[in-house]
Amino acid sequence: MSSHGTAIPMLSRKSGPLRGEAHVPGDKSISHRALILGALAVGETRITGLLEGEDVLATAAAMRAFGAEVIDHGRAEYSVHGVGTGGFAEPDQVVDCGNSGTSVRLIMGAMATTPIATTFTGDASLNRRPMARVTDPLALFGARAHGRSGGRLPLVLMGAEAPVPVRYTLPVPSAQVKSAVLLAGLNAPGETQVIEAEATRDHTERMLRGFGAAVETGEEGGARVITLSGQPELRPQRIAVPRDPSSAAFPVCAALITEGSDILVPNIGLNPTRAGLFETLREMGADLAYENAREEGGEPVADLRARFSPELKGIEVDPARAASMIDEYPVLSVVAAYAEGATVMRGVKELRVKESDRIAAMATGLRAAGVEVEEGEDWWIVHGRGHGGVRGGATVATHLDHRIAMSFLVLGLATAEPVTLDDGGPIATSFPVFEPLMAALGAEIERI
Ligand code: S3P
Repeated sequence: MSSHGTAIPMLSRKSGPLRGEAHVPGDKSISHRALILGALAVGETRITGLLEGEDVLATAAAMRAFGAEVIDHGRAEYSVHGVGTGGFAEPDQVVDCGNSGTSVRLIMGAMATTPIATTFTGDASLNRRPMARVTDPLALFGARAHGRSGGRLPLVLMGAEAPVPVRYTLPVPSAQVKSAVLLAGLNAPGETQVIEAEATRDHTERMLRGFGAAVETGEEGGARVITLSGQPELRPQRIAVPRDPSSAAFPVCAALITEGSDILVPNIGLNPTRAGLFETLREMGADLAYENAREEGGEPVADLRARFSPELKGIEVDPARAASMIDEYPVLSVVAAYAEGATVMRGVKELRVKESDRIAAMATGLRAAGVEVEEGEDWWIVHGRGHGGVRGGATVATHLDHRIAMSFLVLGLATAEPVTLDDGGPIATSFPVFEPLMAALGAEIERI
């Protein structure tokens, strides 16, 4: 459903070669963090290339509700006049984060060590998702949360009056939880530490350093230990947001499965904690190259060249790579449907608590399109049918999940019969220009 509450049914059909350049929008994770850290710095932070999707705009609205000034200069350029660490004002309305788990979890962290109360809510998808994973560690700082059963939204969070620093071992591999703890640690005295067994995306650590906070990353018994010195003075920054690898994944995968395709997706952030999909695709035999590799604003960046790849092979995806491609499993399963043999994905329990249960949503839709899928609690296997082997012809449910919607639209570009979605509205949360961008490449995707 769109943010306005009307479902947008969509369809994709077998398309000719995809050609041209695909300029995907700014990175969602980095955009959220730029707004939040800008709001916690004193002075003007200038952001270019911000993702203007509904999720990030929810974070911008929340930062205004906490007292920061967020100015839209047009053409994805924003400035944020921050209020300083511990300077958040108490919002006088409920903070509605829409579909965005990153917004609510990071913002809960950012306010948890300031003595204010805030009520958070979201859409039907967000209000089903687990929040105790964040409110439990925030309670260690002295914050108190009162939510619905299972700690779900809507919930009220009361920030700590006299916060104490925390040492916390992540029970699940989650950058949102790690970031919530680090952001809470900003207004606690002394050192806050987060220990993660699996490396999750590290944009918060990188950006905190950029804003002048002391953040050390070390190793203890194979785990990553991140140490933040509390109560830094954050200095405003100029941030050029790289383009989102998780959005690039859709045109890239579309090109791999659509006969005759050859596309360029420029300026994609290739932080190693995010690039797992592209390595996996190459192992499957994808014709995918990094061109013009360079570093921009502290993040590795390259142009991706993707060409039709008729001889894709199913593989066992390295579970150690799961965190670095967690958002990309839905579209990987689409590529797997066009590969020869089975693609085995293990260690992916987190997929069950995303915007939807992504294993269930993809398995149901792929089966309806004629692809055999096996699944367990934390694994699934897609039995590929090879190029030209996927029937399609299904109508799939997107469950308020942008990545499910875009994945099935990609599937339909090479199926024998069109693929239909009940609702493409959620695509606007992360990739508002998906439809014109794909159309310009030659993809036959339409609203019905
Ligand atoms: C994100 C972390 C991941 C990812 C989400 C964005 C972030 O969630 O799925 O899309 O920006 O920190 P988890 O922390 O729940 O793994």
